[in-house]
Amino acid sequence: MIKKGIILAGGKGTRMSPLTKAVNKQLLPIYDKPLIFYPLSILMLAKIKDILIIVNKGQLEQYKKILPNGKNLGIKISYLEQVKPRGLPDAFILGENFVGKQNVAMILGDNFFYGQSLSKLLLSSIKLIKGAKVVLHKVLKPELFGVAKINIKNKIIKIKEKPKKFFSDLAITGLYFFDNSVVKYAKKLKPSKRGELEIVDLLNFYKSKNQLSADLIGRGGAWLDTGSMEDFYKTSNFVSAIENRQGLKIACLEEIAFNNKWINKKNLKEAIKFYGNCDYSKYLSKLL
Ligand code: DAU
Repeated sequence: MIKKGIILAGGKGTRMSPLTKAVNKQLLPIYDKPLIFYPLSILMLAKIKDILIIVNKGQLEQYKKILPNGKNLGIKISYLEQVKPRGLPDAFILGENFVGKQNVAMILGDNFFYGQSLSKLLLSSIKLIKGAKVVLHKVLKPELFGVAKINIKNKIIKIKEKPKKFFSDLAITGLYFFDNSVVKYAKKLKPSKRGELEIVDLLNFYKSKNQLSADLIGRGGAWLDTGSMEDFYKTSNFVSAIENRQGLKIACLEEIAFNNKWINKKNLKEAIKFYGNCDYSKYLSKLL
């Protein structure tokens, strides 16, 4: 059972400059909330209450203003700074003490997931005991992502980071589930030609041991990567369209915590006070 989760929310953010010169990308808005709310909501929907957020050096104070320690959400949030973007597996080297002897989930701070079958997928994935699991989604431009080829039994037969030559249109999304060996494997990795520890190399350790499985988000689900400026606005439009149509919010953290029975009405009232007079607060008061 996975009870711990890491959000990797550092990175250079160069593709979003000048917006990211003073503010971390994950604190910029996706429609009506900071981007970080979305990956955090995914971990909370997976019932994970112990969360480590890895941020860029110097940006901790910004995060603590909006997500202090998780008490307001009935969860525990701790922080670590990453001095240099050394690659995704660095999360497990930096987070070794946090992970301890447990299994762990990781989500990239710029990944957005939405869809009806998502909660089911999350709740089954956290049952992982041994090995690793990735979540795949069909994309038009696989060359922009980590890519996996699977056989009819959903077993992964090939993975490659940003392949120049087409072999599959299934992208490996930025949501991963690992057993405790991930720390040991991450430490064994050597930087690639681009000078980073590669998530695909880490996944290959599991694959070579026949311990890498996959789950698919079908066409009823959405996975958007907010890597570029264009993606950022497309994701904002998506959230706006859904929320204004349904009157339900995506990634309202207090709502998820309340539904999970991690917080009570008193906490909701405190949250309304904290956010002040805004639509988000009005939405929270409807829950009361
Ligand atoms: O979004 C899914 C893709 O994410 C996967 O398909 C790829 O396999 C995976 O490598 C990754 O590709 P990206 O090119 O999107 O990775 P990027 O370097 O943009 O980093 C993703 C997020 O992680 C971003 O929010 C910044 C953060 N990050 C990245 C690195 C390398 C860190 O916090 N620290 C780091 O050292």
